[in-house]
Amino acid sequence: MRRYVPLVCMALLMILVGTACSTARPASGPSEDEPQVRSVGEAAATTLIRTLMPRVQAAMQEGGPVYALDFCSVRAQPLTEEVNEQLRGVDIKRTSFKFRNPLNAPDTYEAAALRYFQNTLEEQGNLPQYYVQQIRSNEYRYYKPLVVGEACLNCHGDPAQFSPELQQTLNERYPNDRAVGFEEGDFRGVVRVTIPEAMVQ
Ligand code: HEC
Repeated sequence: MRRYVPLVCMALLMILVGTACSTARPASGPSEDEPQVRSVGEAAATTLIRTLMPRVQAAMQEGGPVYALDFCSVRAQPLTEEVNEQLRGVDIKRTSFKFRNPLNAPDTYEAAALRYFQNTLEEQGNLPQYYVQQIRSNEYRYYKPLVVGEACLNCHGDPAQFSPELQQTLNERYPNDRAVGFEEGDFRGVVRVTIPEAMVQ
């Protein structure tokens, strides 16, 4: 287990500020609404990241990984709900093929978006900054990719590096945890923002 918590926190902050993406590839989907979808989606995704991550960082500083994991496990879902309420109209979720909490498992559209990021990364060597889908005539989805930074490895890295206490807590809370074994720079998943058409006109 890493001991230099302040460094870990710095790394976490850096992840928040720039999600290590390179190209601004236009996404699939229509349309003249896209700039607006992008602007609403990006703002909402950033709000969620800025709500969750400084708190994880503070919890890490206060009590280390097990304590912070406890915090994430209890607070991640309610905090996401709070952001949804605060932003009235959009619906936000974090999702990944390798999810820890089954509540974060991808639906069909989300799986398509995850594949888009994954395939583009594999084929072109860089991660697009965003992706937009039009779901129905009156609903869009905006996706912002998340990249694994050093700090994330404390809870999503090689389980052999986890303390027995952390491993035990993970086993208890998430018996089907898929969100381990990541390395720095890996594509971790996305923040998904659902945006009703009324918000982009
Ligand atoms: C202190 C431990 C901890 C750290 C550090 C941490 N996470 Fe997590 N992460 C969790 C827990 C616990 C969950 C499950 C939360 C829940 O129950 O919704 C989670 C869930 C997620 C999810 C939602 C999908 C899923 O697996 O359920 C994403 C995406 C994610 N983390 C990305 C990151 C990224 C990126 C970083 C680094 C910037 C990071 N995490 C750092 C503990 C952590």
